[in-house]
Amino acid sequence: MGKHVALVTGAARGIGKAISIEIAKRGIIVGIGYNRDTNKALEVKDEILRNGGEAEIFQGSVENFYDVKHVVEALVEKYGKIDILINNAGITHDKTVIKMSLEEWIRVIQVNLFGSFYCIKASLDYMMANGWGRIINISSIIAASGNIGQSNYAASKAGVIGLTKSLALELAQKNITVNAVAPGFIETEMVAKVPPEALDKVRSKIPMKRLGKAEEVARVVSFLLDENSDYITGQVYHINGGLYM
Ligand code: CAA
Repeated sequence: MGKHVALVTGAARGIGKAISIEIAKRGIIVGIGYNRDTNKALEVKDEILRNGGEAEIFQGSVENFYDVKHVVEALVEKYGKIDILINNAGITHDKTVIKMSLEEWIRVIQVNLFGSFYCIKASLDYMMANGWGRIINISSIIAASGNIGQSNYAASKAGVIGLTKSLALELAQKNITVNAVAPGFIETEMVAKVPPEALDKVRSKIPMKRLGKAEEVARVVSFLLDENSDYITGQVYHINGGLYM
């Protein structure tokens, strides 16, 4: 079958970066999808190349279907296929509903949920033609637990779980598995933006009393991508130190 080729969105930093580096170590060719920060994306590429892996950066906004199509086509043109998609790109705009603007509601759902759908839509024909595929959607603990100030994010990430299960059913006989990974509070720039008092409160409630590491999420993603994981589909893997069970 040759080497697998993955697109990881939001791969310039945080969980997407950790996933890219981890799966490249397993011999997967990585398309580093990113929106703004070319330097950070190039740093991820350099690290992968230094480790002996193969990777290229691809710029585009997951909010825009034509950007996404362009990225997927460029990846396929360079490497001949796409058979792994990691929908990781995501944003927050935390506000209680009473204060949240319509734009903040729309934008978070546009990026997190529509963006995941757009990437799936743009890559599915290639995966079907290839006869093997893996789709991992990054959801969140917040999809299951809810959180003050995160109605838009929670709705988007719960939507990602519904999308995952429906698509898993549609593709169950096509040799393409679809799973979601739901991280808890992980040491990333996204979590660093949470007000310190709010984060202290969260930390005190985590049974393991610490935030998670991006690498701890990346290892679960890597496990799900393995060819031996092909009987696992439609599942949601929570990685949260016991904060939500
Ligand atoms: N617990 C209890 N009550 C809270 C609260 C909290 N954590 N935060 C706010 N409230 C209450 C306030 O007391 C206030 O009530 P009163 O009016 O009765 O006093 C009301 O909610 C409104 O408070 P604010 O005016 O401060 O609300 P705001 O609209 O400005 O929002 C906030 C504040 C955005 C919620 C802010 O507290 C915050 O950022 N909290 C952290 C949110 C969070 O955990 N985000 C996680 C980001 S990381 C991530 O998303 C990754 C992942 O997947 C886990």
